[in-house]
Amino acid sequence: MKVLIHPTEGAAVDCVADLIAARLARQPDAVLGLATGGTMEAVYRRLIVLHREGGASFARARSFNLDEYVGLPPDHPCSYWHYMRDQLFAHVDMDPARAHLPHGDAPDAEAEAARYEAAIVAAGDIGLQLLGLGANGHIGFNEPTSSLASHTRLKTLTRSTREANARFFARFEDVPRLAITMGIGTILRADEVLLLALGPGKAEAVARMVEGPVSAVCPASALQMHRKATVVLDEAAASQLALRSYYEEVHPEGRDAAI
Ligand code: GLP
Repeated sequence: MKVLIHPTEGAAVDCVADLIAARLARQPDAVLGLATGGTMEAVYRRLIVLHREGGASFARARSFNLDEYVGLPPDHPCSYWHYMRDQLFAHVDMDPARAHLPHGDAPDAEAEAARYEAAIVAAGDIGLQLLGLGANGHIGFNEPTSSLASHTRLKTLTRSTREANARFFARFEDVPRLAITMGIGTILRADEVLLLALGPGKAEAVARMVEGPVSAVCPASALQMHRKATVVLDEAAASQLALRSYYEEVHPEGRDAAI
């Protein structure tokens, strides 16, 4: 795992946006795995700026989002379809026909999950997978004890995840209990994984992900098994890492020679 610790949130966000832009420059028809959540909003804002400056084109790219709430149609304001249009797709040259998310309102959610997994395989799997991190160590909606070999499927959300995401809904009771999510096995097949975690609320999960045992109890720890995983942090999110000074020595101020 490459651990890049930046002095500020802004620097960490810029680093992630730059790595995505670099991948698109190198491979304009890249298959991107995209993530939602509050952390990603700043990344998408930065990508929109880069796009306007001519530094990132999505015209030939394809994308697959990690997950979607079961029961929410694509036009629901709390759906991840809506989030992606609002935060990114409406502002860049992404062809809507090449941007994929699971359909949360599909009549048969299990069949929809299987269809989605097959579509990812048919696309040749994800090239660059962007990830956030749940405070309980989840990636996508792979909650603790998710199979580390799992494929896209239905997951029941934990109460803590529903509470964390309640800020996007009018009431806690409105947060769906089920989601369709790429599996950990799906994510591990990506060519490259890029995870962003910011702030003190993620520090414990970051330490378990990077330095804890590989365990389904912390789904993000499965990334230790990935051959090309980059973890981008601000100082607060890095604060519980035992080997922090080592990561800072290898990559001073989060600098990555590959950028
Ligand atoms: C949700 C998403 C995850 C995301 C997580 C963290 O549960 N399904 O993909 O990583 O939230 O979100 P935030 O960035 O808002 O902390």
